[in-house]
Amino acid sequence: MKIAIGCDHAGYDLKQEIINHLQNDGHTVVDCGTYSRDSVDYPDIAANVCSLVLEEDIPGILICGTGIGISIAANKVKGIRAALCNDCYTARLAREHNNANIVALGSRVIGPGLAVEVVKTFISTPFAAGRHQRRVEKICQLENAGLREE
Ligand code: RB5
Repeated sequence: MKIAIGCDHAGYDLKQEIINHLQNDGHTVVDCGTYSRDSVDYPDIAANVCSLVLEEDIPGILICGTGIGISIAANKVKGIRAALCNDCYTARLAREHNNANIVALGSRVIGPGLAVEVVKTFISTPFAAGRHQRRVEKICQLENAGLREE
């Protein structure tokens, strides 16, 4: 599987660890930065990963200190459903129910062992569709039309 990954300076070490695990499992990982522990702005990295996720229809991984800023930034991009998952239960449901195309992680919140399991759960779980399809479509409608008029 091809996977896009990106992080800010706070997520750099965890990104490298996740890349190693995914490559060992035979995945193709596209590293969208950042490439050192020097300070960067997480919206720039979110934009890089979002572009690739949308262009190639592949899953993405985003990491910052909490996972909050980088997921908020990613969710401003039309077509992106980024889910902040610091446990395997939410990672599974983010795919099954929400058809999330990006998993966000907080490097200062979870350890590397759990983070790798969260990522593996996310990329191996399919969207359940069914009743969830309609709800995800309504998310897309919000992107296009904004709030419904009552
Ligand atoms: C960087 O210090 C930190 O603010 C960032 O990684 C992230 O946690 C923001 O949401």
